[in-house]
Amino acid sequence: MGCPGLYLTKEEERILDGEEGELKAKLMEVLVKLGDVFDAERLVRPASVHVSGVSYGTIGDAGLRFLRKVAEAGLRVSVPTSVNPCGICLDGNLPVDEEFERKQREIMDALESLGVASVYTCVPYQQGFQPSRGDLLAWGESSAVFVANTYYGARANREGAPATVAAAVVGRIPEYGMHLDENRVAEYEVVVEFEPRNDFEWSALGYYLGEALDGIPVLKLPTVPSLSNVKYMGAAAAASGALAMAYIPGITPEEPRMDCPERIEVEREDVFDLVEERFGTEREGFAFTGCPHRPDGEIPRFDGCAICCPANATLDGYRLRGTCPVVAPIEDVHDVVFTDSLKAAHYLASRVEVNVGPL
Ligand code: F3S
Repeated sequence: MGCPGLYLTKEEERILDGEEGELKAKLMEVLVKLGDVFDAERLVRPASVHVSGVSYGTIGDAGLRFLRKVAEAGLRVSVPTSVNPCGICLDGNLPVDEEFERKQREIMDALESLGVASVYTCVPYQQGFQPSRGDLLAWGESSAVFVANTYYGARANREGAPATVAAAVVGRIPEYGMHLDENRVAEYEVVVEFEPRNDFEWSALGYYLGEALDGIPVLKLPTVPSLSNVKYMGAAAAASGALAMAYIPGITPEEPRMDCPERIEVEREDVFDLVEERFGTEREGFAFTGCPHRPDGEIPRFDGCAICCPANATLDGYRLRGTCPVVAPIEDVHDVVFTDSLKAAHYLASRVEVNVGPL
């Protein structure tokens, strides 16, 4: 039986009752509990799943045990499923200790035996998992969720790691939050009074918006952003705040739903005063770009800088393939980093000294 208010089909009831095995029942229970928390009325089949919690550094031994169990039960994903970056560079360009590497590879083996696509990236939408308008998704990466909602008009909440594994195997996700029209209402009209000139400035704008806003904005920008601009901005906005979407005229494929939005103007100084207050701006430290990942096609133009990229990238240059410094144990190798990503800066600031700026 599901929770009050959550309707389960006969097939879903059967899975919950253990008729397809004890472990699958447990995974269904994870989804039913999630539905309970968010007052979902039903489970839906996601068009795709993006599994988060892939780095050993993030999920540790408990996460490894959980994935091993699911894999040993012979379960397989039942919808197209991609995975987030792991904790090691697949080219060996970031030294890690032996135990970390061994356990990371066990995690990857377990995931791959479930049938996930071994893309190891936070940009699944550029690696064969491009959503369509209206698709309901079960994605566990906040930057990708922002892009899915904003750029593709798909419908995604940021799901937790166990829920993404459960959704991939069971082929269901509770319908709640950003899946529903009523929660896609803009509460702000934000007029950006300056033109961001590079990915760093888009990222800085996102960082400011994430801090300043409590809900979805209609973003009036002086220029129509590219996908790369949107992902840099969205990643930072989802890191400093919890922004899952913006309506961007000329980009977002759905008309904004609005409810007396509050009007806010954003000047260049507002954004860069905040950035300078939070982070160093010296051009010093281990330099990297690609947070979110830069796939083939987003040609690197940066010298002396590592490029975080998906597992199957073939781009030239010093690559951190299938990983990034945030999910890898970067502090074991470098004390100071320099990045154009405010998302990376935000999460790294408690582990290393961080400098930010354009590349
Ligand atoms: Fe991706 Fe790592 Fe940034 S997972 S969004 S490159 S923190």
